[in-house]
Amino acid sequence: MTTNKFAVFDLGTLHGRLGFSDCKLPTHSFRTLVAHSNEEKAKVSKLVPPKDLFIGTEYLEYAECVDVIKPIYDAKVQSWGDWEHMLDYSFLTLFSSLTDLDTPLVYVEGPTWDVSMKRKAGEIIFEKYQLPSLGLVNHAEMSSFASNNFQIGNSLVVELGGTCSYCVPVIEGQALVSQATVMEAGGTTVTQAMIRGIQEEGVDFGTKDLTRIKEIVIKFKKMEGYICQGVEKEIELNKKVKFEIPNGDGKYISVGNTRFLAPELLFSPRVKNKQSFSNGMHNLAWDCLKKLKKEIFAKASSQIIIAGGLSGYRGVKQRFLQEFNKIAKESNFSISENEIIVPQNGVTLAWRGAAKFTHHELFEKQLVTKEQFDNLGENAFN
Ligand SMILES: Nc1ncnc2c1ncn2[C@@H]1O[C@H](COP(=O)(O)OP(=O)(O)OP(=O)(O)O)[C@@H](O)[C@H]1O
Ligand SMILES: [Mg+2]
Repeated sequence: MTTNKFAVFDLGTLHGRLGFSDCKLPTHSFRTLVAHSNEEKAKVSKLVPPKDLFIGTEYLEYAECVDVIKPIYDAKVQSWGDWEHMLDYSFLTLFSSLTDLDTPLVYVEGPTWDVSMKRKAGEIIFEKYQLPSLGLVNHAEMSSFASNNFQIGNSLVVELGGTCSYCVPVIEGQALVSQATVMEAGGTTVTQAMIRGIQEEGVDFGTKDLTRIKEIVIKFKKMEGYICQGVEKEIELNKKVKFEIPNGDGKYISVGNTRFLAPELLFSPRVKNKQSFSNGMHNLAWDCLKKLKKEIFAKASSQIIIAGGLSGYRGVKQRFLQEFNKIAKESNFSISENEIIVPQNGVTLAWRGAAKFTHHELFEKQLVTKEQFDNLGENAFN
């Protein structure tokens, strides 16, 4: 391998992270949204969108006259054409033009991408951008690699993602994708529950604009949300917090139990008056482990990594330990606190893993040239 500098893209359900492998952190991030201007809507709104296509939050000023698409959902590509627009944007963010891209790309694929997704991604990337080579690396493998101090290891990766959460065993650095478990609760689910809860508490945001309300609640969710250690006890405390509305001319909102009742969706689907989404992240992990053969079970359960945006919540580790051990007891199994790792800055963990993985001896095998792809198709990535 002659080069040691790679472009690294981690395009997630909500956020894209971009940078070069010689940096410790991604240098750019953007919302993984694509908006197309809509003539009919433009006529009604009397706004003239300056272009046909917007990436990220560029569209916000023209929200009334565009159709907004989420090209990636549940960590899988749903609209390849729009995914391609996001790739154009990503390349143009790091390079000055789309031609002569002579730096190879490392793309962090979703934790449960199948071979057809790898083939499609390979086709688009090689045909359109003429890159010298492409490495597709698995999200869970990269999270495991980064939290193992950039070493190949064994772990069970619980990724609390944008719209879904996943649990994937990673053994000797390899994700066992067929053993993965998925739950339909992630960052967006918590945001929606938080908006509903705060409104039910009768809080006045000082605006009826839903986009603005969402923006306030996402900030609130990150700064003031937490995972409690016992719902009933916490409800009794009935604490309220004052939160200054960002760019709100010094105005505050005061929020009570919603702070922990919304994130509670990650553990308890039966919170009073709240909709049921899943059996919780402890069941997600246990259901995954239970499927594994004895030896693999022992390896995977030796280190449980909790990653993704929502792993930033205080209290997540202690509560996970408590709930997991309650259900694992049925099989006389338990874990201790030091077997659970919650790496700092869980949102960039997979990106950081991918950037560092390019220096690892195993990486060379995962780097595929156009010629190899033309000959072997998606098999070149295995
Ligand atoms: N410190 C934090 N505390 C609580 N929530 C957070 C924090 N940081 C980010 N989040 C939330 O975590 C959620 C998931 O974000 P993340 O960036 O991991 O998703 P993604 O990488 O785009 O999705 P995926 O990996 O599932 O495709 C978002 O809703 C985000 O608001
Ligand atoms: Mg992600």
